[in-house]
Formats: sequence, structure tokens, C-alpha cells
Amino acid sequence: MTAQRPLDGRAAIVTGASRGIGRSIADELAGAGAHVCVTARDAHDVGEAVAALRARGADAIGVPGDVADPAHLWEVTDRAMTAYGRVDIVVNNAATNQPYGPLMDADPDAWRTAFAVNVEAPLRLVQCAWRAWMSEHGGAVVNVCTEGATHVGPNIGAYNTSKAALLHLTAQLAGELGPLVRVNSVSPGLVRTEMARFVWERAEETVAAGLPTGRIGEPVDVARAVRWLVSDDAEWITGTDLLVDGGTRVRAASPTGDAQAVQRQLRYHFPGA
Ligand SMILES: NC(=O)c1ccc[n+]([C@@H]2O[C@H](COP(=O)([O-])OP(=O)(O)OC[C@H]3O[C@@H](n4cnc5c(N)ncnc54)[C@H](OP(=O)(O)O)[C@@H]3O)[C@@H](O)[C@H]2O)c1
Repeated sequence: MTAQRPLDGRAAIVTGASRGIGRSIADELAGAGAHVCVTARDAHDVGEAVAALRARGADAIGVPGDVADPAHLWEVTDRAMTAYGRVDIVVNNAATNQPYGPLMDADPDAWRTAFAVNVEAPLRLVQCAWRAWMSEHGGAVVNVCTEGATHVGPNIGAYNTSKAALLHLTAQLAGELGPLVRVNSVSPGLVRTEMARFVWERAEETVAAGLPTGRIGEPVDVARAVRWLVSDDAEWITGTDLLVDGGTRVRAASPTGDAQAVQRQLRYHFPGA
């Protein structure tokens, strides 16, 4: 007899799951027994991610599209409901880190896109899931935020500001949707993905040396935290943000590295700096 897994029978939507952290989250949730609906804009990449999930025995579907398009979010919810008859878990992972540079130069359209993708889409997808399933049956939401959301940094002001809004949205939704739905966020530090390649490719050693954990993050570090947060093991946790940053926030006290050197590296290597 197969042992019961923590998410057996539940259905999850993971946005931006064709690569990086989202793909690892989809993998973890599937490994814990969930049916998984994955999204991303590139249809080929979505198909590839779904094929990989199915190859390891997961029940997965994919819906290509842009989370900034509200019609796409309804389609995703509809497809998950048709396939699985439920939407227990929503992971808002897709994001953009544009526009780079000083806020005084921020292009208005790029700024609006950042908020459409990073803030509005998570709200709209939760609205879809709430109406389709969660308002009657409950569920769990995790928003993927960033360690940078609560402090200032050069050139990523638009990104950090939008993620700060996502942090607040997380708390607000947690208050509004309890007791049926729990809403939390995770805030990664530097993780080895495409989005952050321009940092770790040039400054991995310096950043790693400055962290109490001595290494940068891998997607699975974040995915495991998400898997736990959506499980019943976290049933008394809502409205909180879980830092998954290898100790980035506390690095000033680390004996293994020079925190200011890390900061200089990050500043130096951000495009536009
Ligand atoms: N990597 C880090 O160091 C780091 C640190 C802190 C926070 N985070 C957060 O972690 C999350 C995942 O980032 P990542 O590093 O894994 O990035 P990534 O490797 O670039 O992957 C991003 C994923 O999102 C999809 N995506 C991007 N824009 C989208 C859109 N408008 N609509 C639908 N899908 C979209 C991408 O596929 P398509 O391009 O095909 O759409 C891809 O599947 C993000 O919320 C990011 O802010 C990352």
C-alpha cells in the first residue's frame, strides 16, 4: 500500500512554473501528491515542464499565458477546475524584475507592467480561485516575494516597491480570507535562476562568503518552504512572510564575510548601475 502524502488529492496552480523557482515548486507539490497546473508565457517551455512532471508520475496540466492578462487567469482557474474539480493551492510565483535603474528614469509603461505582473495578477488569481472553489472549501495561497521587499537597493526600486506591495497584499488577504483560506509569502534571497543570473554569475563567491549559510540559494530551497506552508503542518500560520534567504538579512553579524563587500558587489553588478 502506498503511504499517504501530505497533498494527496489536492490541486494547485503555480504561475511562472516553466523554470527556476516556480518549476521547483511545481515539482515539490507534485511530489507531495498534488495535481499541478503550471503556467508561463512560453508555450513550448510550459509543455516541456508538464512533460517532465508527468514523466515522474505527476498529474499535471499546463496553461500558457501572461499573468498580466486577467482573461488568462480565469482560463487557468477554469482549466484546473475542469481537470481536477478543485483549486486548493495557489502559488503566485511569476514576476518581472523590470524596469531597472533609478526611479527618476522609470518608464511609466514598464512600471505599470511591474505592478500588473507582481501585484495585480496575484490578487486577481486569488479572486478567481476564491470564486471557483476556495470560498466554500478553503485553501492555501503563497505569494513569492523577495528579501529585498523591506529595504532599499540600487536600481531595483520598481521591483522592490512592487514586492513590498505584494507583502502587504499577503497580509491583507490573510485577514480577509480567514478562516477558510490561509495566505502567506516566502521571501527568497539570491537564488540560482535565470532572473538572477546577472548577479550570481559574476558575484556568487562574494555573496556566498558573506552569508551565514555560506552559499547562495537553489530553487528547491524555496520550493520546500512553499510545500510546507501550503500543507496542513502549517495550518495555524497565515499572514506571515517566511524569509528563505540563507541568512541574507542577518549577514552583518556573519564572521565568514564582509557584508559591505557583498553590498558593493550587488550594487556593481546590477545592470544600469
Ligand atoms: N532568483 C532570485 O534570486 C529571486 C530572489 C528573490 C525573489 N525571487 C522571486 O522568485 C520568483 C521566481 O523567480 P525566478 O528567479 O525563478 O525567475 P525565472 O527563472 O526567470 O522564472 C520566471 C518564471 O516566470 C515566468 N514568467 C515571467 N513573467 C511572466 C508573466 N508575465 N506571466 C506568466 N509567467 C511569467 C517565466 O516563463 P516565461 O518567461 O515563459 O513567461 C518563468 O517560468 C519571482 O517572483 C521572483 O521575483 C527570485
